[in-house]
Amino acid sequence: MERILILDFGGQYNQLIARRVRECKVYCEVHPYTMPVEDIRVFSPIGIIFTGGPSSVYEAGSPQVDPAVFELGIPVLGICYGCQLLAQALGGQVTPAQEDSAREYGKTVTWYDRSSPIFQGLPEKSVSWMSHGDYMACVPAGFRLTAHSEACAHVAIADEARRFYGVQFHPEVSHTEYGTQMIRNFLYEVCGAHGTWSMADYKGTAIRQIRDRVGRGRVLLALSGGVDSSVCAALLAEAIGSQLTCVFVDHGLMRLNEGDEIEAAFARRSMNFVRVNAERRFLSKLSGQSDPECKRKIIGEEFIRVFEEEARKLGAVDYLAQGTIYPDVIESGAGAAAVIKSHHNVGGLPDHVEFKEILEPLKLLFKDEVRQLGRELGLPEALVSRQPFPGPGLAIRIIGEVTKEKADTLRQADFIFRDILTKAGQSQCLSQYFAVLTNTRSVGVMGDGRTYDHTLALRAVTTDDFMTADWAWIPYEVLDQVSVRIVNEVKGINRIVYDITSKPPATVEWE
Ligand code: XMP
Repeated sequence: MERILILDFGGQYNQLIARRVRECKVYCEVHPYTMPVEDIRVFSPIGIIFTGGPSSVYEAGSPQVDPAVFELGIPVLGICYGCQLLAQALGGQVTPAQEDSAREYGKTVTWYDRSSPIFQGLPEKSVSWMSHGDYMACVPAGFRLTAHSEACAHVAIADEARRFYGVQFHPEVSHTEYGTQMIRNFLYEVCGAHGTWSMADYKGTAIRQIRDRVGRGRVLLALSGGVDSSVCAALLAEAIGSQLTCVFVDHGLMRLNEGDEIEAAFARRSMNFVRVNAERRFLSKLSGQSDPECKRKIIGEEFIRVFEEEARKLGAVDYLAQGTIYPDVIESGAGAAAVIKSHHNVGGLPDHVEFKEILEPLKLLFKDEVRQLGRELGLPEALVSRQPFPGPGLAIRIIGEVTKEKADTLRQADFIFRDILTKAGQSQCLSQYFAVLTNTRSVGVMGDGRTYDHTLALRAVTTDDFMTADWAWIPYEVLDQVSVRIVNEVKGINRIVYDITSKPPATVEWE
């Protein structure tokens, strides 16, 4: 399979680079910049992309690559920090940009030399997204300049003989007009890609790999009923049939009626399915805990302990399967990226797990790729296009300590919010929408009396990949209906607020 290697220098848009490459139908993986050259050779990429990063290449201790990477004969595209690294490593010079000259942030009109393969087919000038305080003062021997802006003559470099390219701006962000075209040019014109990455291929390969790995062994799948674990269940069922048992742990933190709906949906399919009602157990472990990371870790550990118990009952289960997807891995702190939150199925795993191995067949896919795979596997559209629901459930939507009473309150309010959005025809336009029970109480007046009750926050976002998200512009009339109904029907809530923050700087969930 042709593949691209993305070497991660800690930049904030790194996952977007991976998305863009895959959108161009070329498989890629993101690895830390410390990946040894030997491993790169084994990985055998048709091209390497160096990402951006927060450091300056001339600082002591800044991330560097082994110079042997440049001897592999593999084309390289350096983006921002990656471009400066390329320039410095090959004999050029990078310096801090002087005020008013080459330091650039934001949308910048850029002129391209269209004889360079990267800029082939582009207009002579367009907007690119810059975010750099350093400047390639001296371009290395063998390179030529291939783009400039008003403030900076050295915006892009190319050594066509060795197939090394660098751009100071970020072609992966949507603010760079023609950015995807530039990435496509690198993949197809420079690296010679054929665009063979498709979900139909992935399905076949994944099934073969699962069969090879599992043999005649038995697998227990941690099923939450969400898109990821349901797609994982369908994939495993196709690969290993009755060797699979799906265990759904109802931790008492599901949405209204959700546990019964999941049970009904899976009971209809001919799969080994077990439901474990574990509300009391989870709530008692969470009692007194209010720190978000602690809550996540407790839930992650408790899930595993329940699965271990179920595996012992079934006997001879070697593998635990999970529907982990790529953003879960990244946000839990893989490679050079910071830990944003420990996803219950990655960073939330305890150190010791009784299973021989963990299977995560969706680990390299983004959410929309998982949905495509679900369609390939013949899952119904209603299931495949469902909004995501996090494994820790309402525990991370109840700010502070979790109690049964709070979970019941939130369940009712969340149901009303979702019900109104669906009836108002809004839900299809939203990627995720839910209610959050804050730990703020405020004074209100109801009838002739004073109230001192919880504030409920409503959250609704639109996004392609959940790595970045915009808050949704729900019409005021709809928000008004939600507010009136919740305050009238749900005891314990007397104030409703709407969350108008995007990701970043916020995240989708509040904890
Ligand atoms: P954040 O809050 O990180 O959410 O912006 C991005 C997406 O991930 C979901 N999410 C999780 N899903 N286990 C999951 O299965 C988790 O621990 C978890 N935390 C967040 C979140 O609902 C959103 O779709």
